[in-house]
Amino acid sequence: MRILGIDTSCDETACAVVTDGFRVLSEATRTHDEHRVFGGVVPEIAARAHMRLLPRLTKISLERAGISWDGLDGVAATLGPGLPGALMVGVVFAKTISQALKVPFVGVNHLEGHIFSVLLGQRVDPPFLALIASGGHTDLVHVLDWGRYRVLARTKDDAVGECFDKVARIMDLGYPGGPEIERLARDGNPDFHHFPVPKFDHLGFSYSGLKTSVLYYITRQEPWFVSENISHICASFQEAAFLQLLEVCLGGVEMTGVRKLVVVGGVSVNQALREKFRRAFGEDVIFPDPRYSTDNGAMIAGTGLFRLERGLFTPLSAGVYPSWELDEG
Ligand code: KG4
Ligand code: ZN
Repeated sequence: MRILGIDTSCDETACAVVTDGFRVLSEATRTHDEHRVFGGVVPEIAARAHMRLLPRLTKISLERAGISWDGLDGVAATLGPGLPGALMVGVVFAKTISQALKVPFVGVNHLEGHIFSVLLGQRVDPPFLALIASGGHTDLVHVLDWGRYRVLARTKDDAVGECFDKVARIMDLGYPGGPEIERLARDGNPDFHHFPVPKFDHLGFSYSGLKTSVLYYITRQEPWFVSENISHICASFQEAAFLQLLEVCLGGVEMTGVRKLVVVGGVSVNQALREKFRRAFGEDVIFPDPRYSTDNGAMIAGTGLFRLERGLFTPLSAGVYPSWELDEG
């Protein structure tokens, strides 16, 4: 079976073709540069960019996979969570293909897609814990089986990737913030300043306090001090951000007795994060191929394939679910 996967949840238009065994036959992704000047994603601009890019990227995906339209057995698209207008563009496009080719349409939860990203190119069997660390979500999930999830912890406010983006904005480092903070932090001392790590009496994340404490720290310093020590500040921020992720994951292990952990989502591409988790979890932590950490079409196609194989199609009357959580329907 071959399935086309489409993700238009945010500022990346992503298409891919995946076949049996979660083998990626092709992919084509474009990140919208037009948001950069605004320091964040502008929903209307994202929707228009998806409309412009989708036909071309779909064509490229099919060409790279070496197939024509009639080589597709299904088409999957992200139904949510994400920006409503942006989601709508991908879903209408996918439903149109499904109707024209008379192949099933599969609506996919973007967060489930991130969990499936770990299966692209390697074998991973549940049960395990999954930390989804992205720009919109910070969830710790108990994956009882593929398709069966129990959310153990969510963020009370900002997501960890969102915190990277906001801290980068405070320091004038551009958007998205994660890659630039990681680059600068490589030469920095993580013990230069100790930013606070929140403690709760139950499992949960919170990143808005960390962002505020970076803001206060920066505004209290002279500009020359900040620019001279920018690497140390980035490394110290990263250390606090990742320590919180790690502590909650260790809490999840204690709660469930499950030690196998997968870490997915855009933030999981970060090498310092990977090293920190490898030190704590050793062989028990598994990461997706870095290509599939950030938003991509292959993880949506992979999830779609899993559902397609089980006859779990989505009716063409289904709408988008911009706030869809993983454990809701
Ligand atoms: O999963 P993703 O591509 O999109 C969402 O579903 O949100 O994640 C995007 C997030 C952004 O906040 C971005 O700053 C962050 O992932 N990110 C990183 C790195 N690369 C991307 N954060 C830390 N280090 C990185 N190298
Ligand atoms: Zn994502």
